[in-house]
Amino acid sequence: MPPGSRRHPTLLIDQKEYRMEHSRLTSSRTMKVIAINGSPKDNGNTAQALQVLLGEIEKKGIETELITVGHQMIHGCIACAKCREAKTGRCIAFPNDAVNELLPKLQSADAMVLGSPTYFAGINGTMKSFLDRVFYVAFSNGGLFRLKYGAAVAVLRRGGGTAAYDELNKYFQISEMSIASGSYWTAVHGRVPGEVQQDLEGLRTLRVQGRNLAYLLQLAERGMGHVPLPEQEEPIATNFVR
Ligand SMILES: Cc1cc2nc3c(=O)[nH]c(=O)nc-3n(C[C@H](O)[C@H](O)[C@H](O)COP(=O)(O)O)c2cc1C
Repeated sequence: MPPGSRRHPTLLIDQKEYRMEHSRLTSSRTMKVIAINGSPKDNGNTAQALQVLLGEIEKKGIETELITVGHQMIHGCIACAKCREAKTGRCIAFPNDAVNELLPKLQSADAMVLGSPTYFAGINGTMKSFLDRVFYVAFSNGGLFRLKYGAAVAVLRRGGGTAAYDELNKYFQISEMSIASGSYWTAVHGRVPGEVQQDLEGLRTLRVQGRNLAYLLQLAERGMGHVPLPEQEEPIATNFVR
């Protein structure tokens, strides 16, 4: 029977892997949130916005780490698909940059916060190169970020922030991750570093989003081991022409 015509989806129930994943999620340890700053500036508006969000998470006793990738040389994905073949959970084409360096950290984190400055009404180029490769590896290796939590932050001077915010959220959505929202689309305003501190409504949104992410993590921590994980389905890839 061709894969698309299955009446019942095939579930990926490798019991050994399932138990390992469950015990990974239920083992007692401090929860951790990794924030990725796509800006080339270590202390620019994006970093400062992320710090506001992370500050609320830390107040709830959850560990956080902020990592800047925007100043690094990060090649875009070259669609070699070697990560799909090798199944090592790593990028094979460019093994020695921030992608492979940070994949293990992101894999072991409970949540990730992605922050990007808005460049030409989208996320900045280095951030896109980084995220395309990280998430393609994760996607091609059985869903490494499945059931983790995410929050997105875009920073802009004037226009295109919600497009960048949408772009960031799409990485979470294709990865079976749950998303923490703020009280508005998190596109926070500022041009020169520090100006973001004057966007009072934006700062409030960041604080709300941080507390909401912490709340989701606390719920997850208490639910783990009590609520069964959702079954994972075997992928079906159709491209509308065959
Ligand atoms: C190449 C480039 C393109 C930009 N494009 C936009 C844009 O489309 N819309 C906008 O509002 N701001 C744009 N900006 C301004 C930045 O988004 C803004 O200054 C932001 O605060 C920078 O964040 P950072 O300090 O974290 O790097 C652009 C800046 C640069 C350098």
